[in-house]
Amino acid sequence: MSKAKLISPYGGNKLVNLVVTGKERDELLGRAPQLPSIKITMRNLCDLELIATGGFSPLDRFMGKADYERVLHEMRLSDGVLFPLPITLTADPKELPTVGEDIVLRNANNDVIAIMTLDEVYHWDLETEAALAYGSTDAKHPMVSEMARWNKVCISGPMKVVNLPKYYDFVELRRTPAQVREILEGMGHDNVVAFQTRNPLHRIHEELTKRAAAQVGGSLIIHPVVGMTKPGDVDHYTRVRIYKALVENYYDKKSTLLSLLPLAMRMAGPKEVMLHAIIRRNHGANHFIVGRDHAGPGKDSTGKPFYGPYEAQENMRKYEHELGVKMIPFEELVYLPDEQRYVEGKDVPQGAKTLNISGTQVRDEYLAKGKLLPEWFTRPETAEILREMYPPRHKQGFCIWFTGLSGSGKSATTQVLTSLLLERGREVTILDGDVVRTHLSKGLGFSKEDRDTNILRIGFVAGEIVQATGAVICAAISPYRAAREEARKMVGENFVEVYMDTPVEVCEERDVKGLYAKARQAMLDGKPMGFTGVDDPYEPPIAPEITLKGYGATPEENAHTIIAYLEEQGFLLK
Ligand code: ADX
Repeated sequence: MSKAKLISPYGGNKLVNLVVTGKERDELLGRAPQLPSIKITMRNLCDLELIATGGFSPLDRFMGKADYERVLHEMRLSDGVLFPLPITLTADPKELPTVGEDIVLRNANNDVIAIMTLDEVYHWDLETEAALAYGSTDAKHPMVSEMARWNKVCISGPMKVVNLPKYYDFVELRRTPAQVREILEGMGHDNVVAFQTRNPLHRIHEELTKRAAAQVGGSLIIHPVVGMTKPGDVDHYTRVRIYKALVENYYDKKSTLLSLLPLAMRMAGPKEVMLHAIIRRNHGANHFIVGRDHAGPGKDSTGKPFYGPYEAQENMRKYEHELGVKMIPFEELVYLPDEQRYVEGKDVPQGAKTLNISGTQVRDEYLAKGKLLPEWFTRPETAEILREMYPPRHKQGFCIWFTGLSGSGKSATTQVLTSLLLERGREVTILDGDVVRTHLSKGLGFSKEDRDTNILRIGFVAGEIVQATGAVICAAISPYRAAREEARKMVGENFVEVYMDTPVEVCEERDVKGLYAKARQAMLDGKPMGFTGVDDPYEPPIAPEITLKGYGATPEENAHTIIAYLEEQGFLLK
């Protein structure tokens, strides 16, 4: 280990540190309001933090043109140091001062993060970077589609960081590379193996990490990414709760460290693995676990995987000496139920029965159905936390969205349905069109624009309620199809559109609120009020989840039809 420490350009005593404190910081903060500034993205912020604290050492700034070009073509910085991927900051040229001047980098909340002395501004090209850095221009690659939204020029220059990004969650697990190194050194082992992850830890990963630690005879750092991972991944709050429970109950605390890494992943497989190794090296590890499909972005738009499952291992094998981080490789692990143990694919005895549960199966076949994951697959703590965070349907929120003419029976059915849901122990919120117009949408009229605004407000509130696992009934005419579709988007999957299909003649004959009469009179008076069904259109839904007859069926019958639907869909237990 110590030998590798000497030859590697990463880590060592030269850990970059751009954070300024004391008087210098006060002086910079005092100057910041007078300087031009730009807002940087979440990814930029993660990159900036790793540059500033030395996680990307020896990189000490967003890449300038010479570094950028050589990294793209040769995976090396301009001085020859191996560095696999570009780390750039893009900006809108209109917001930049002239080269040589200072510019403030701010986060989304406008907090001052760093001051950069603008050294270089250069153009970059999406197709070129996508092809050279990621091996593909296919927008299915999460990095490629993201890059399409970046600004046209890259900027670079020395930075002074006055505020590292501030975190309020799991603060005890957030450490700079220097802090991690200190703890690892305190554990007293020459060898340290790091484990990268962006997923919940199951038994397979426990096996990988424990076997690797035993193999190197040293400490283990479980180093999950909490910056940006692949869109759709399990959120980091849930994952970190799992990591904490597992480290607490199943690992040797004297030689295991759990620390969070604010990295924005690129999902660049075989190149990203090298970046991961550099980062871990800078955190004091000299071994790194690489399994199957490391940092894989999945499949391209033709259904072909972007990278081979063991390409990351091949790259590590080629470069591990230069990186100063030895790879601990693993093939895909599978479970042998008859022997109750995990083995690598190559070690499966001939004809032996094997078990495995894929990520998709975990979601669709276990979590959605409220089924607990089996113990051979994951520890009970993990199963429980995942089940808690992904409740089965009967514990999820839902939205019953009535649409239909005034007087079609929406309110009457709502009344019955509310009682039936309360009887089942569901919390129910009612967003009735008329009531909403007395507070939430007070002041809105009946123009198309105002009607749409009203529907979008209801949709927004309904979405919040469903998110918080509540049941909500929305009963507004909602005459326009497009606005209803927008409301559906805001609520998400658990949106049940109920069409009260009552002929306008019936509604008008009932005229409970006397509105049809008023609308007819207004027309006669030459002051049409734009009343739905009289002088404003109603666009019936094309494929509503439920269609009810507000004429010929009672509100009780209609409410029971909805209850039956909710039972069938799993929103209510039978
Ligand atoms: S990654 O994007 O961070 O690589 P993940 O958290 O799933 O995704 O994987 C973390 C590490 O564990 C990677 O090195 C990966 O190759 C390895 N790994 C994950 N699942 C398996 C498995 N079933 N068999 C072997 N290695 C695995």
